[in-house]
Parts: sequence; C-alpha cells; structure tokens
Amino acid sequence: MSDQPRRPRKPAKPYRRPQKDPVRVLAFEALRAVDERDAYANLVLPPLLRKAREEKDFDARDAALATELVYGTLRRQGTYDAVIAACVDRPLREVDPPVLDVLSLGAHQLLGTRIPTHAAVSASVELARVVLGDGRAKFVNAVLRKIAQHDLDGWLERVAPPYDEDPEDHLSVVHSHPRWVVSALWDSLGGGRAGIEDLLRADNERPEVTLVARPGRATATELLDEEAAVPGRWSPHAVRLTEGGEPGAIRAVAEGRAGVQDEGSQLVALALAAAPVEGRDRMWLDACAGPGGKAALLGALAAERGAVLLAAEKQPHRAGLVAKALAGNPGPYQVVAADGTRPPWRPGSFDRVLVDVPCTGLGALRRRPEARWRRRPEDLDGFAPLQRGLLRTALESVRVGGVVGYATCSPHLAETRAVVADLLKQFPGAGLLDARPLLPGVPDLGEGPDVQLWPHVHGTDAMYLALVRRNG
Ligand SMILES: C[S@@+](CC[C@H](N)C(=O)[O-])C[C@H]1O[C@@H](n2cnc3c(N)ncnc32)[C@H](O)[C@@H]1O
Repeated sequence: MSDQPRRPRKPAKPYRRPQKDPVRVLAFEALRAVDERDAYANLVLPPLLRKAREEKDFDARDAALATELVYGTLRRQGTYDAVIAACVDRPLREVDPPVLDVLSLGAHQLLGTRIPTHAAVSASVELARVVLGDGRAKFVNAVLRKIAQHDLDGWLERVAPPYDEDPEDHLSVVHSHPRWVVSALWDSLGGGRAGIEDLLRADNERPEVTLVARPGRATATELLDEEAAVPGRWSPHAVRLTEGGEPGAIRAVAEGRAGVQDEGSQLVALALAAAPVEGRDRMWLDACAGPGGKAALLGALAAERGAVLLAAEKQPHRAGLVAKALAGNPGPYQVVAADGTRPPWRPGSFDRVLVDVPCTGLGALRRRPEARWRRRPEDLDGFAPLQRGLLRTALESVRVGGVVGYATCSPHLAETRAVVADLLKQFPGAGLLDARPLLPGVPDLGEGPDVQLWPHVHGTDAMYLALVRRNG
C-alpha cells in the first residue's frame, strides 16, 4: 500500500437533468428520419413542425431555426464530415450514426450559423444528453470543443486538399458535393474555376419560393399584392416570394389558380407552347406529367388557344396529383395513368409533346438537401434506357410538323445531350429547333440549339430543354 496521503475526493457534481430544447430535438429527429428511413427532409419536416406547433410552445422563429439546422446540416454534410473526421480518432463509419448526427448539427451551428460558440457547444451537449445519454455527451463535448478551435475557413484550409493538386476534390470538400457530382456539373457547365464555384455555392443556398399565376385563372399582378412578392425574372407569369412564407395560405394558390413552380419549369412549358409548328395546333400531350406542375401551366396555355391537353403519368397516385393540379383548368383536358413507353394513344396524334423525363435531379440540389448524398453514378445507367424509350415514343407520338420538348431537371450530359443525340440518329427526319429565341430576355443560354438553365446564372433550377421538330 502506498503511504502517500490520500487526496481528498472532489465532491461529485450534483446530477442535473438535461435541458430539453425542442428546436434541436426536432432537428435531430428529422436528421434521424432522413438517415434511417431514407426520408426526404422536405417531406419529413413539415409534419414534425406542425406537431411541435400544436403541442408545444414552438413559434415561427423556432420553426425557421429548426428548418435551417436540418437543411444546412444536410447540405454541408460533406464538409462537416471532413471536419469531424479530423477531430475523432477513428474512421467516421465507426461512429454511431445518431452520435454523428448530433456532431453534424453541432458542427453546423459552430461553422455555418451565427450562433455564438458557447451556445452552440452547450446546446449540442444538452441535446446529446437528452438523445444519447451522459456518457456519449462527453464525447460530443470533446469533439465539438476541438471543432470550435477554428472557423469554417480555418477548417477548410486544414481539411480540403489544395485546389492545384486536385481541383475536384478541393471543390468537393469546400462546397460539400460528392466528387462525381462536381465532375458531372463541371463537364456540363464548362469554363474555369469561378463558374463552377458559383454553381456549387448556389446549390447550397435555399431557393426562393416562386409562384406561377396560371394564365386565364390568375394574374401575376394579383399575386404581387402578397407580402414581399416581387415579379419573376423571366416568366411573365412568375412571382417570387422573397421572404418565403406559406404559399398554401395564398388564396389563388389554395384555389389552384396559381401554384408553386420554379421559373425554370415555367420557361420549359412556355418555350414548348411558343415553338413554331406547321399547321394544326390542337392536341397537346404531357407524357410524364406527375405531379402536374408543367401540365397545369400547359393546360392553361392550351385553353387560351383552344387546344386540348392529354396528361399521362405512369404511377396512378401521381396521376391523381396531376388531376388535382389540372382541376378547374379553363379548357378541355384529360388525365390518364399510362406508361409513356407503351402508350395507349395512336402514333402521330399530337401537335406538341412534352416529355419531362425521370432523372437524377442533379439540377434541383438546392431543393433537396440530402439528394446529392443519395444519388450514385450508377443511377445514370438505370435512367438511360427509360429516358431514351420515353423520348422515342414522344417522337412517335408527334405528327410530322409538330414539336417535342425533351426536358430534365438534371444538367448531366448523359441525361441531356447524349439522349437527344442518340434519338436524333434513330429519327433522321427529326431536327433540333433553336430553343433560345423562345425564352425571350433570358441571357447566357449558350450556343444552342438546346438550352441549359443554371441556378447561379438564372436563379432557376438547372433545367435542360431540347426542342425537336419532326420533319418527316
Ligand atoms: C420529372 S417528373 C415530371 C415532372 C412534371 N412534368 C411536373 O412538372 O410536375 C417525371 C415523371 O415521370 C413519371 N414516369 C416515370 N416513368 C414513366 C413512364 N414510363 N411513363 C410515364 N410516366 C413515367 C414519374 O412517375 C414522374 O412523375
């Protein structure tokens, strides 16, 4: 036995119950649902917020903070993973996913918000105590204290490889996109470092809410009466809500006379409707209509011209959404649940056809914060035959002299130009129309004849549109 005098024991701290902060607990629950159940944040969050508002003292500011914490953490996950990896002594895959979620939420508060450091750390440690227990809260505390030693720029200097050594890896860490997505976007965008950095930055911004006033049913002027509403940039039917808000509470939206629709999607429908066709212009088809945003605009435009819209959608429940979007359309229309690759209609029936094909959605990363981490390059192989099949039937469905609009909300060249080029080989009688003059006033549309919109240039999703005329 040692004869050293015993040090008096520190009196144990009295146990303190963890403080339950409803905003952070809700943000954590949303992240778990996204992680565990592959849920979409934009679907998971609204019911959680509604419930919290009903049950607790949870006001609009709390809802805004919870939303920012969830969206920001998911968007910047790649960057935060690199920072957290530098602060723990084991590979991230060995850290329990719920612990990693608490750490990521903490990293976002420390590096991506103006929440003061001490508040970000203590709120995260309290959250850890509530949802993980006291033992793991100590680990969270230790890691977050390391993260708090530098700001975001300081961390990026430490964890991102130098741009000159590996530009794509550098951009991937700094702007929090998977490397293959950086490569694909850059291939499509072209140009140097400034453009791709602006694009990646724009993907990390929350997009404004844009409304469409459906022609003949509502006017942009009517929507401009809303608080913080300003005209759209390019579409005469668009109105932007610069402070977000609840579009569903707007009367014209609740009545289906207006809807929420990105301006890029509006431009696609407007350009197809404006494309020159020879002769008859009475039968329009939307071959991939669900959930019905473009169909509702096309239906209203068709009604103004005395044309009929057929809206087809393979999945019956989505066909139901299309029917809802088109309800009250001022002109004739029909909605059918049909496979656009085995259509029930006769070839050559239509004067205008929109085929807005299923795709990776790499052009709408601003809206779906988790999407970039879920997608895999192999997904392109899955979409390729379907996209070709749908464009093939669209070209068969249009009559000679009519026009097909091929659209994607992805700028990936494998989903855009490659598909169109392949189909043009199979249809020697078809040719591309210059889509650029059909988007009047929209700058920087490239060399044509197809158009690619960009978030950082046009403020829209990265929609692609090729207009193909059947000449023979
Ligand atoms: C990109 S979304 C269309 C978005 C729609 N145009 C809008 O603006 O709301 C593609 C749609 O095509 C549908 N789809 C997938 N395969 C299809 C097929 N073989 N035939 C018809 N629709 C299909 C999907 O269910 C999805 O609703």
